[in-house]
Amino acid sequence: MTDPQIVLTERVQQALGRAFGQEHADADPLIRPSQFADFQANVAMSLAKRLRRAPREVAEAIKAELSDFPGTVEVSGPGFLNITLDDSWVAAEAGQMLGDPRLGVGTATPPQTVVIDYSAPNAAKEMHVGHLRTTIVGDALARLHEHLGNTVIRQNHLGDWGTPFGMLIEHLLDIGEEAAVAQLEAGMGTEYYQAARAKFDSDEAFKTRARVRVTTLQSGDPETLRLWHVFMDATVRYFNKIYDLLGVTLTDADIAGESMYNPMLQKTCDDLQDSGTAEISEGALCVFPPGFTGSDDKPLPLIIRKSDGGYGYATTDMAAIRYRVHDLKADRILYVVGADQALHFRMVFAGARMAGWLPDTVSAEHVQIGMMLGKDGRRFKTRSGESVKLMDLLQEAIDRATAAIADRGYDERLQKEIAHAVGMGAVKYADLSVSHDSEYVFDFDRMLGFTGNTAPYLQYAQARIRSIFRRGGIDPATATGPIVLGAPAERALALQLLGFGAVVEQTTALSEPHRLCAFLYATATAFTDFFEQCPVLKEGVDPDTRASRLALCALTLQVLETGLNLLGVPVPERM
Ligand code: ARG
Repeated sequence: MTDPQIVLTERVQQALGRAFGQEHADADPLIRPSQFADFQANVAMSLAKRLRRAPREVAEAIKAELSDFPGTVEVSGPGFLNITLDDSWVAAEAGQMLGDPRLGVGTATPPQTVVIDYSAPNAAKEMHVGHLRTTIVGDALARLHEHLGNTVIRQNHLGDWGTPFGMLIEHLLDIGEEAAVAQLEAGMGTEYYQAARAKFDSDEAFKTRARVRVTTLQSGDPETLRLWHVFMDATVRYFNKIYDLLGVTLTDADIAGESMYNPMLQKTCDDLQDSGTAEISEGALCVFPPGFTGSDDKPLPLIIRKSDGGYGYATTDMAAIRYRVHDLKADRILYVVGADQALHFRMVFAGARMAGWLPDTVSAEHVQIGMMLGKDGRRFKTRSGESVKLMDLLQEAIDRATAAIADRGYDERLQKEIAHAVGMGAVKYADLSVSHDSEYVFDFDRMLGFTGNTAPYLQYAQARIRSIFRRGGIDPATATGPIVLGAPAERALALQLLGFGAVVEQTTALSEPHRLCAFLYATATAFTDFFEQCPVLKEGVDPDTRASRLALCALTLQVLETGLNLLGVPVPERM
């Protein structure tokens, strides 16, 4: 691990131990980037209070113990420690990172089994923009965990069951399987649903048929199940088109929809009741996890079985959490789902803890996804007020990207490839680069911009580095340095690059892809400064400087490429 902030934390802690005794060796040294040096450590001020000594005196004592340190330490102001690392240390660490295929990213020890519940659109409705964000954030988390060596089990908790399927299957019979399949595969799920719904509301005979069909479906009638499969398979084929377009890693093997839990629901209820975790309240089977009260101060129920005997969303989630812990052997379960379901998950987790299905050794976390807003600040909709079709939205991103690069003279095949990478990259990165729980304004102009914290900016930065190597006829793999730091922009770039391993680990631990985005953006910016100030291939650059700068280019390229891959943002070779 070469991250300077972590190295410094360790060094200062050792100094604290030596200067004030081991009981102070685990104090947070409060290392922060500094205006006046590379970093500052602010620990002397807080420690001074506890030791009842003058902060400057404490700072001097720490400094005295930092003698074998690869840099200079100065005490300033009330007791800041200003720390500047030696160029030679930064250069050596960067050189080492360049030789490390993992670029300083550690591996999880021991590896964990991480179940990630994400995407989870509902059949019979158009997969809408809300599911776009859970799909993209979830997929980035899956990639990050795999990169750290964890075992990732993706679970696409499709909404594929429930009473609406009675009318959906009857409608399928009315219009014919072939027509239904064509419509669903084309992503017209919403229209299909609305047509079925309209008949259900206006046609008594249809309503009756639909109700009967729900019962036959639940009883497992083979022909009804076949029709359900026809419906679901066509729907999933449409979801897969979206996943393919986006380059999302979900496959059919990851589908673990609500229907999968049907055979477990009765036992789920029985076990909860038998163990005393759930009780009958007003005819319904309910869990009352402690600490949850409604507006009337009455305990809030998690309803496991409705008073009419029906199961619901919570029943499935209780069965699912048991399955994930017991059968999938999860150490960590991430639920990448809309923030509006926060209460539901808090209650499910609490209920599962009460039942003993979620031991303290397993963490269950709701990775809350904030709502997608239109430019007007309201829920994202089309002008006519309908929710926006995802496929249309993605196509528009690709069309706009095509227009943006139209004048660059690429042949048709390359143009298509780049437009796809830029369009999909822009949409994905826009979702990832803001904290996942904040609301987020969908704005094509901003996300497709070639400046600022956007995918096109980062994609362009890495493509530009590739073009440097192309122009020089040099294979980046041969640019091994040695790295020697002279110009300030070189040093700043090298120092920035050293933080990669730590930020990948932190991003994964906290489930916060925007941290990696911010890091990559800072890296691309540092590279831009470097490239403006430090000629690489220009005539007159001496061979050692050239070799060092090429090595910095190669390292930056690897960091940007690996980082974008971990986010699931495509990396075009040219732009
Ligand atoms: N299908 C649900 C929805 O669209 C999301 C499911 C999330 N996962 C879960 N285990 N409840 O809101």
